[in-house]
Amino acid sequence: MEISRRAALKSSALAASALALAGPRLFSQASRAVDAHIDILPSEPIATISPEIYSHFIEHLGGVIYDGVWVGPESKIANTNGIRQAFIDTMRAVKAPLLRWPGGCFADSYDWRDGLGAATNRPARTGFWGQQDPNRYGLHEFMHTCRAIGCKPYLAANLRTLPARDFYQEIEYCNAPAGLVPSNSAAPATPNALAAQRAANGDVDPFNVDLWGVGNESWGCGGNLVPEEYAAMFRRFTAWTPNYSRTPLRFVAVGPNGDDIDWTRRLFKSLYANSERRNLFGLSVHYYTSGSPSEFAAGDALAFNTGEYYDLLTRASIMERIVTDHWAAIGDTAQPGQNHVKLVVDEWGAWYGKGTALGPEYNLSQQSTMRDALLTGITLDIFQRHADKVAVAAVAQSINCIHSLMLAQGDKFTVTPTFHVFQMYMPHRGAQAVRAEFSAPAIRNPLANASIPVGGNSYTGSLEAVKLLAGLSGSASISATNPKLLTLTVVNPHIDQPVTTEIAVAGAAIASYSGQVLAEPDVHAHNDFAHPDAVHPSPIASTANTARLTHTFPPASVTTLQLTLA
Ligand code: AHR
Repeated sequence: MEISRRAALKSSALAASALALAGPRLFSQASRAVDAHIDILPSEPIATISPEIYSHFIEHLGGVIYDGVWVGPESKIANTNGIRQAFIDTMRAVKAPLLRWPGGCFADSYDWRDGLGAATNRPARTGFWGQQDPNRYGLHEFMHTCRAIGCKPYLAANLRTLPARDFYQEIEYCNAPAGLVPSNSAAPATPNALAAQRAANGDVDPFNVDLWGVGNESWGCGGNLVPEEYAAMFRRFTAWTPNYSRTPLRFVAVGPNGDDIDWTRRLFKSLYANSERRNLFGLSVHYYTSGSPSEFAAGDALAFNTGEYYDLLTRASIMERIVTDHWAAIGDTAQPGQNHVKLVVDEWGAWYGKGTALGPEYNLSQQSTMRDALLTGITLDIFQRHADKVAVAAVAQSINCIHSLMLAQGDKFTVTPTFHVFQMYMPHRGAQAVRAEFSAPAIRNPLANASIPVGGNSYTGSLEAVKLLAGLSGSASISATNPKLLTLTVVNPHIDQPVTTEIAVAGAAIASYSGQVLAEPDVHAHNDFAHPDAVHPSPIASTANTARLTHTFPPASVTTLQLTLA
């Protein structure tokens, strides 16, 4: 019976998408409720949702570190040991699980030793992005940031300009225990020199960094390598690295530029050419939603029309293909008995042109609107629907950059709509993702024939893939501690149409539900320093006691519903 209903839904959805295909003018017509259905299938588990898919990334770039994260201990701006207090508090509010540093492209020209010791003795250098870096914020300051937030560090190691020995020693500096270490011979116990240096620099306790990116974008800023060259470097860098813990280190290999499947196939073929693959945990995937009209930038963060709105969200939804295609490519090359290497999407977000930068020195900073909130929801839902494949994901970048949760300049500070979506999706962490079927008329991307797929961590594939946007999308999970608590997150991308939806949970009635919705009459709505609370979520609560719940998702909205099952 369920199957025939789904078939019926499909044909009505097709009829409705034919209407939508009539053209973009449709979206400016008066609001008309769109019918849709969500069928949640608790008996079809996907995997536990890794809390690490809500991770973050900061790089020495523009105003991310200096004036974003780091204000200095002598600053009048509230701080803990020089780290902006509002940054710490906001990252705590979203329970950031992991923070990636120091890049990005910056990582492959950075010497971690430059950021050690007395601040006055540290060398100032020109960083990758052309800025003078005083090296005031180094390894210890980063670790203190992680401690203040309560998150784990994720270090990107330099593969392009430092030898393998430095990688080995960086691990040793971070993780070797301080104090006398017994030798395995008759020689007396001695302190490890690098651990002693760390202790002298203020941190006796090891940093215990287990997650290491081995280079960054080695196909581009990380060395312009081909996959076979990178595979050889990866093997050499990671072979026989020291480990001071019972849990293995987790190494992340540099993955493709967006949808470049050729990189993934050749990389794994080459990596497996030698059967010793110590601690290869994940493949880094970078995908920025951009592509038109210029190489890196998808127009303006604030000034966009309806067509550009739909084009961007359609391009964002390509993340699903990127995840499934790379996953399949890794699987194709796997050897029997080997664990499937996980995906680490450690850079994602919408990348716009320069128009809304906080100022000339805030390279790549941009504003963030409701459109970006929807992109965030679409992306996190994709990761959750593929909880078996995506182990880690980090939005780029946390503050004053591409797809930020925060903007800061001097003593001015605001969170963006993206912050609210991260907070709204928190109940999914560690929960069991279950399959949910969404049936809703698709939306035709009005720019499908005009948009230009280009390079730059973007989508280079066929225009076919950017033609249709799901009329409603989302994901569902069941709490690990309460099997009667189900979280459903939903994005309605229709710019001016509410979507009235029948929600059913197979085999259970819905006793009550509560949640939050993020929606604004204008998709350009955003927070700024003068109006830091212009965009914020509103609560939803209701008793339902029904087998099928009817809920209307407002236009251009992100919603979290927590359903209590009877
Ligand atoms: O996030 C900005 C840059 O984008 C990163 O440094 C690089 O890895 C990517 O190309």
